[in-house]
Amino acid sequence: MSRIVVLVSGRGSNLQALIDAKNAGAITSDIALVISNKENAYAIERARLAGISTQVIVSKNQDNNSFFAQVLAAVQQQNPNWIVLAGFMKILPKDFVQVFPNRIINIHPSLLPQFPGLNAQQQALTAQATETGCTVHFVDEGCDTGPIILQKRLPIFPSDTVDSLASRLLPLEHACLVEAVQLLEARLLKG
Ligand code: GRF
Repeated sequence: MSRIVVLVSGRGSNLQALIDAKNAGAITSDIALVISNKENAYAIERARLAGISTQVIVSKNQDNNSFFAQVLAAVQQQNPNWIVLAGFMKILPKDFVQVFPNRIINIHPSLLPQFPGLNAQQQALTAQATETGCTVHFVDEGCDTGPIILQKRLPIFPSDTVDSLASRLLPLEHACLVEAVQLLEARLLKG
């Protein structure tokens, strides 16, 4: 069975979407480990409630190299097919990405290449865009730049705020992430 390691930093609703998809049989991969760079991330609680192994590797007050060396060791120990960044708020260093070419995926709340980086919803509103969406992409050495796997579009209403946009985007993100994992699983089966 294929294996996934999920990296998180916060609330973990995208992780929950994967957990729910696994429980519903919509994806088959085993979520082998959830790693958080923040001790109090609710995502860790979600993983524990689902009986998934967790590891907290605190990034704060720690040298980036030594932080990512620990993450790399923890990930490699699991021998995963894919690594999912689900609200993981750290940029992976080049040498980490190079270990897993086209095997790390990220969910981002915009139609990349528009609005990469932080505060994508705010960026869309500031640009007076009439639509936005979400993207699941492979992670390369840039920030939110890797090959796109899937996107979902969402209209922006004149009344939208960052919060309303973020909350309407979230269910789309969840669906997009689950579908992307389904695609990867199907591709693996085809060989
Ligand atoms: C999502 O909007 C995701 O696209 C972004 O960070 C947020 C994480 O949400 N990268 P959650 O922790 O999965 O609830």
